[in-house]
Amino acid sequence: MIQRMPDIHSSHKLIIVTGKGGVGKTLLAAALARLSADSGLNTVLVTLDTRDDRHPLLDVPLEYTPYQVAPRLAASRVDAFEAVSEYARKTMPFSMFYEGFFKSGTFRDFATAAPGFEDLMCLGKLYNLATDSEFDRVIFDAPATGHFRQLLEVPRVTARAVQVGPLNHNARKIQDLLLDADRTHVLVASLAEEMPVREALEIVDACRALRMSVGPVLINRRITRPVSAAEAAALKDLLDRESGLSEPVAAAIAASAQAASIAASQDSALEPFRLHRLRMLDIPQVVQSRFAVDELLTAVGSSLQPLMADGH
Ligand SMILES: Nc1ncnc2c1ncn2[C@@H]1O[C@H](COP(=O)(O)OP(=O)(O)OP(=O)(O)O)[C@@H](O)[C@H]1O
Ligand SMILES: [Mg+2]
Repeated sequence: MIQRMPDIHSSHKLIIVTGKGGVGKTLLAAALARLSADSGLNTVLVTLDTRDDRHPLLDVPLEYTPYQVAPRLAASRVDAFEAVSEYARKTMPFSMFYEGFFKSGTFRDFATAAPGFEDLMCLGKLYNLATDSEFDRVIFDAPATGHFRQLLEVPRVTARAVQVGPLNHNARKIQDLLLDADRTHVLVASLAEEMPVREALEIVDACRALRMSVGPVLINRRITRPVSAAEAAALKDLLDRESGLSEPVAAAIAASAQAASIAASQDSALEPFRLHRLRMLDIPQVVQSRFAVDELLTAVGSSLQPLMADGH
């Protein structure tokens, strides 16, 4: 058997998790961040998501300054305006005079109107975290398809629009990091359903067009096939024929037939990935009688472990 090289190795500074909205990006990114921290790398999990003030799974505040979650694991929400003030503080003399201006409504109005400005500032902060911070690795719980594709365009568009100066220099550095297969790896998450699959293909195409390192597609919430198609048919036949079955037995048969039919429809939804010869990694649907974050992250993490076959 040919042994595949692991997709993620210790040189990877930036791991990007993206996909359609709601496919499990936040859960998968958090589980990857835990694996990375457990392997000994000082890891920061980064989001741009402004919906929650606390991380939905890790139960820590989401702030610009990375917040320690566990040994070697921190979480942060990157914000364009904080990134600009930080940049100004570091690079401009007397920057305290501008501090108020950067936080002002006027500046916010300008920056929100300038296309790509916020995205570029956020990418700049990601760049700094990945290349020039106490962290060995950034796991980026990235925005969903549309916004993500826009993010990918921003450094190139900026470098073309502004041909000299620090903006050009920074955009190029960010672009170099994103396109460097040894430092950056993209994981696209999907569900085994038509629309997420279509969006995942779109993202993979966009990444490949830029020659980014990408794959395998994470097929989240996979239902494992409880019985084969033939066994499911036999069970259904039994259910139809036998009137004397006790209620729990009849319910168990109906449940396994239903799971078999979901598994079959998931299988056929994945056909486009097979046609495009994309590698897939199944992440099972975790079923819990009582919600327990730790167990959820551990179960998902063990399915992600093969990505990091060298321990990192
Ligand atoms: N494999 C799984 N097993 C059990 N629950 C899951 C699994 N994957 C995701 N979930 C749950 O589904 C919900 C949505 O997942 P999550 O928030 O990670 O998606 P998302 O892609 O980040 O969504 P958004 O695009 O809105 O940010 C969460 O409650 C998450 O815990
Ligand atoms: Mg999310």
